[in-house]
Amino acid sequence: PGHRSCRVDQVVNLMSVNITFCCADTQSESWLTGLRAALPQASIESWVPGAKPADYAVVWAPPQSFLDEQTQLKAVFNIGAGVDALMKLRLPIHTKVVRLDDAGMSVQMAEYVCHAVIRHFREFDGYAADMAQGIWSFRKPRIRSDFPVGVMGLGVLGERVAKALASFDFPVNGWSRSVKAIGTVRGFSGEAQFDEFLAATRILVCLLPLTPDTRNIMRLETLGKLLPGGYVINVARGAHLVDEDLVHLLDGGHLSGATLDVFRTEPLPSEHPFWRHPKITMTPHTSARTLRDESIAQIVGKIVAMERGEPVAGIVDPVRGY
Ligand code: NAP
Ligand code: GLV
Repeated sequence: PGHRSCRVDQVVNLMSVNITFCCADTQSESWLTGLRAALPQASIESWVPGAKPADYAVVWAPPQSFLDEQTQLKAVFNIGAGVDALMKLRLPIHTKVVRLDDAGMSVQMAEYVCHAVIRHFREFDGYAADMAQGIWSFRKPRIRSDFPVGVMGLGVLGERVAKALASFDFPVNGWSRSVKAIGTVRGFSGEAQFDEFLAATRILVCLLPLTPDTRNIMRLETLGKLLPGGYVINVARGAHLVDEDLVHLLDGGHLSGATLDVFRTEPLPSEHPFWRHPKITMTPHTSARTLRDESIAQIVGKIVAMERGEPVAGIVDPVRGY
């Protein structure tokens, strides 16, 4: 009988749960179909101004008017890992913000960053240019220990990336707010160890959340502390990087190149100097895409857990901003 009452207590009545969907730049129909298939008892609708109050929201960069109307939300599920667009808004005081917690992104990020690091280290761009001109010539093999990679941000994505890089025997440094012990990764933490981390790094990878503490973190003063011939890989947010400072250090020769997936303004304006810079490789914010089915499964699992009063991962701390 004890077990039976425990199970009965855990049965969740989702009949009365209302979910609203408000995602900019997203094809809502396939998300709504997936959410409804996973939670057939719940009422799930796209948000329109004046819609009935919902219990949960699935969002990406919603307008302030959405949050001003939906003041009773228990939680807002962000369909990305980064919540910077959401944290700029005024949120109802009792509403939890829940970010995507991997949901298939960390493996994509590991692929992307390892690809960029290896392309640079093995000089594949140089070989491609040679071969395109019919030139068959070898470059002197580079020494791996001369290319320590520093990963800023050792969260869900950064940890996976750091481990993947270490599996190729690159020396890997990691920098985070709190102290971390990740395999062979040399850990640095907090502002006190930032300069030491930079000075020990030649290839810098940014996987930090965008917060007031991390905005403009890659600028003249900090990038200038990297080992000579430094290389920058930004896969977090465009506002982590001061664009003019990167160009200055590339042109002056202290930095040898950059791979950029994220930009202050997206799409990148056609007049931006990055488009024509020979040392910059770019992709259109695609390093780790939101995978719809994985994300729906994660969000639905968390709604059910919250309805049961169970804890869920990925709740954003409003003070830290990530
Ligand atoms: P996460 O799990 O929250 O990890 C954030 C990491 O950054 C943590 O290790 C944290 O340190 C560290 N950190 C935060 N503030 C810091 C500070 N002031 N000083 C030092 N370390 C600090 O985030 P995630 O899931 O890995 O995602 C990271 C970011 O990647 C997202 O916020 C998003 O902007 C970006 N992203 C980009 C794409 C893309 O396609 N380009 C896709 C997904 C995500 P602690 O561990 O000590 O807290
Ligand atoms: C994408 O940039 C994300 O934050 O998930």
